[in-house]
Amino acid sequence: MRRNGWGILAAAAVFIISTAIYLTVGAAPAAADNSYWGANYFPNVPLITQDGKTIHFYDDMLKGKIVLINFIYTECGDVCPLETAKLAQVYKLLGDRMGKDIFFYSISVDPRRDTPAVLKTYAKKFHTGPGWYFLTGKREDIDTVRKKIGMAGRLDEDPVTGHTTSLTLGNEPQGQWMQDGSFDDPRFIATIMDNWLTPGYRKAANSYENAPKVDESVGGEGPSMFRTRCAACHTIGGGDGVGPDLLGVTTARGRDWTMRYILAPDKALAAKDPVAVALFKKYNQVKMPNLHLTPADVKVLLAYFEAQTAFVTKAGHSSADRTSAMKTDPESTKTSQGPGRN
Ligand code: HEC
Repeated sequence: MRRNGWGILAAAAVFIISTAIYLTVGAAPAAADNSYWGANYFPNVPLITQDGKTIHFYDDMLKGKIVLINFIYTECGDVCPLETAKLAQVYKLLGDRMGKDIFFYSISVDPRRDTPAVLKTYAKKFHTGPGWYFLTGKREDIDTVRKKIGMAGRLDEDPVTGHTTSLTLGNEPQGQWMQDGSFDDPRFIATIMDNWLTPGYRKAANSYENAPKVDESVGGEGPSMFRTRCAACHTIGGGDGVGPDLLGVTTARGRDWTMRYILAPDKALAAKDPVAVALFKKYNQVKMPNLHLTPADVKVLLAYFEAQTAFVTKAGHSSADRTSAMKTDPESTKTSQGPGRN
């Protein structure tokens, strides 16, 4: 009996092995034309752009392109605006490749509220341009896309607030796909798209020389904290971005207010703090995000603002008056739009 048992097992093993070989051979032609990472894999579901146009996920969005995909929702008060502002920096670095061979897709996980019109308004706030689509569609189609590109939330999470802040980056014709965190340095994300995902392509224009000048004598964590959490929306003396120029902010508003505001801008707005309300109106109603910093973090940042303000002022600007400082800044073409700091 025992021998027979083994015999059956051995026969079964041979059968399983031969089936496996057969399946591999059967799949080979498909792999050769790269369709494993092509139309065979990616769903071709319809999505709707911020201009109300229907496009298909595989045929129109991926096929033949280098892409960056993330998930957002416009009501999101904390991480999404920072994520979008960071991508806006990556977008600028990629320059004229955007809309030619590189495309960004920010897909809403809250399609009920995020109609094309709502997405269009959102896109404008971040000064986006050609090649960057904000998409909505049917909930089940969006969920399918999320699952297929490895960005589904945990099953026990709210499908909207629990969405991941990762980015999926890929070169469809090459079948090369990877993920990165959206809070990574925008220059690094741009390098991934420009070099790693585009073999043989080296862009000369955007070097570190074009990065904003910082006072090298300011040590500690301030500069890197500012660069990773704030610089997507703010400069210190370089003019307004998505948010106000922060030159001289601690003198103008006072250290206490600035500290309280950075710790909980959402609460300041909810409590109708007059400065917070006025700023919110001026800056296209983009909410200054609550980045959940600790008081110790904010102290480091305030010290950095003051050191950098002194540095910028010393470097030829007359005073901490931000309008005059910005006029003498060759990088800045804008004038101050912030409510007066009295
Ligand atoms: C997604 C963009 C964004 C990011 C990231 C961001 N901010 Fe802001 N910030 C704003 C906007 C927009 C305002 C204007 C107020 C509003 O619209 O709510 C603002 C206002 C401010 C103000 C008040 C300025 C004034 O004139 O009084 C301070 C201070 C500030 N931010 C500090 C920071 C710091 C520090 C960080 C990083 C830790 C940061 N912000 C990150 C968008 C951003």
